[in-house]
Amino acid sequence: MPNIAVLPGDGIGREIMPQALRVLQAVVKDLPETWEFSECLAGGAAIDALGKALPEETLKVCHQADAILLGAVGGPKWDTLPGPERPEMAALLGLRKEFGLYANIRPVKMLPYLLDASPLKRERVENVDMVIIRELNGGLYFGEKGRKTNPPAAYDTMIYSEDEIRRILHVGFKTAQARQKRLCSVDKANVLETSRFWREVANQVATEYPDVELSHMYADNAGMQLILNPSQFDVMVTDNTFGDLLSDIASVLGGSIGMLSSASLGEKIGLYEPAHGSAPDIAGKNLANPLAMILSVASMLRHSFARHEAAAKIEQAIDRVFAAGYRTGDIAKPGDKVLGTKEMGDAVLEALR
Ligand code: IPM
Ligand code: MG
Repeated sequence: MPNIAVLPGDGIGREIMPQALRVLQAVVKDLPETWEFSECLAGGAAIDALGKALPEETLKVCHQADAILLGAVGGPKWDTLPGPERPEMAALLGLRKEFGLYANIRPVKMLPYLLDASPLKRERVENVDMVIIRELNGGLYFGEKGRKTNPPAAYDTMIYSEDEIRRILHVGFKTAQARQKRLCSVDKANVLETSRFWREVANQVATEYPDVELSHMYADNAGMQLILNPSQFDVMVTDNTFGDLLSDIASVLGGSIGMLSSASLGEKIGLYEPAHGSAPDIAGKNLANPLAMILSVASMLRHSFARHEAAAKIEQAIDRVFAAGYRTGDIAKPGDKVLGTKEMGDAVLEALR
């Protein structure tokens, strides 16, 4: 009996999660097993109610779950807290570390109906279909960090062990093997020692995948290539920091970051969340695009439960909604029927029927 921990979090997380849950419930009700959902607090909401962004109760529920759904965490109210107590670090990075979620999968695919929502010319983006694989448990995010006095200074340490690099490269090669068999490893080997090491390890791992073509690219160039010629990429694998930056850049190729889902996988359970944040500027206004969250649910059905048909049903429903001309504000062009968060949820549910 699948048990899902549901963490809406803060800001628009609280608006998109209910829509994603309605969609999930609608597709799993046709499955033979009973699905259970346990909702709990995380992020700023948990700080306000329980004094901590990742309370013990929440951790306990997550440990008993088969998968975690997360909305988004953080907001201006908690921005002045010391780094380690902030919702992003304590809750999000806390969960990534606690569950060893080292492989972050972010698929960027141009949906035909959204061609005109892309800020780039149609001919540049029409063939975009790539996956960004971001290392999520190491590097700059988790290395030693701190402040110094006299003179005042601050530091974050970038460190990668061979094992950490190796395991994410395996995910990259395996993903490429199941696709176009092209893997681009992104680093900054002209400057960083961690990157030179990353390249060495990547070249070693490559010998185990003779059918996959491995290339290397500097991160700055990768940012430029994503704009100039994004369809050259099949699978991109990179470290925590570069993956964060490049996945935000890549997300707008397909129209909006509001469409980008994200799966964080480890040895045991997976965490599924939209790649965007809590968007305090539009929170509470029924303006947010719930589709990245809904697509994250589809990703969960695929990666954690091998429910490929149920996942495809959701994706096809979204396609039908687009075909009927419905959009949220972030992906709308003149003439489209613009829906709010809840109404987009209604539309996807309607299309599922
Ligand atoms: C992401 C987000 C997070 C990250 C933030 C909210 C800590 O930007 O998942 O890409 O930097 O990993
Ligand atoms: Mg990010």
